[in-house]
Amino acid sequence: MLTPTKTMLHMARDGGYAVGAFNVYNLEGVLAVVAAAEDEFGPAILQLHPEALRHGGKPLVEMCLAAARNSFIPMSVHLDHSASDEDIRLALDAGLVSIMADGSSMAYDDNVAFTGGVTALVHSKDGTVEAELGRLAGTEDDLTVPENLAKLTDPDQAADFVDRTGIDALAVCIGNVHGTYSGEPVLDFPRLQAIEARIDIPLVLHGASGLSQEMIGRSIAFGVRKFNVNTEVRQAYMSSLTARLGESPQPDLSSVMGSAVDAMKSVVASKIRLFGTSGKG
Ligand code: G3H
Ligand code: ZN
Repeated sequence: MLTPTKTMLHMARDGGYAVGAFNVYNLEGVLAVVAAAEDEFGPAILQLHPEALRHGGKPLVEMCLAAARNSFIPMSVHLDHSASDEDIRLALDAGLVSIMADGSSMAYDDNVAFTGGVTALVHSKDGTVEAELGRLAGTEDDLTVPENLAKLTDPDQAADFVDRTGIDALAVCIGNVHGTYSGEPVLDFPRLQAIEARIDIPLVLHGASGLSQEMIGRSIAFGVRKFNVNTEVRQAYMSSLTARLGESPQPDLSSVMGSAVDAMKSVVASKIRLFGTSGKG
């Protein structure tokens, strides 16, 4: 059932777990997330990166919303990493009311002004806003931030940011990165704990691909209620396509697409279990 993102995050807080937000690009991605969520009886978020939104437009958004509406599991649809008014307008016009206003590349006061403006607009539609403070290194679709430009979230600034913008969820930078971690991930848990102590809205951890069970558990214990996962799901999709397309004789397209759904579904289901969401639907 289509459920507001903020309701899902509050349910997660009350239940002591976190919800996975899985980036999808097309029907196969949507089928994989819904099937995994239903098999696990665990809530999940269908997430669209702006590049996917620009490619798929209103039909893609409507497909995600319909899938969420038709599921017996609580699901929401969320626009990821948006720094452009145009993308946000496109999403809102298509019926999305859960938006990440990503002003993390802006100077602090500009981030406050941008995020505050998006929040006022989205709240007028009773929607949910996530924003980011600090800056995450790594690559996701067309967004690349080199390590020297990454910035960790400052706990005091986080409190000021939440106060001044009125956002519903805060994405934190504590050493997490987008894409594949080079070596073992190192997360700054004392920083996460300090952030959690200063603000009382749900926290979000991007770059959840590749994080261990121990790191996920500690993050949840310090207030993370949403984990963003893209790389591992995307890799499962691409590897499955590559393997099937290499077969001879060439397989049917429906069978290739079916294998891709199965590959993504198994990653999504394992994350739903890892995040403690199974059985919470
Ligand atoms: O916004 C989406 C994510 O933060 C995904 O990160 O690709 O490293 O899993 P990931
Ligand atoms: Zn992200």
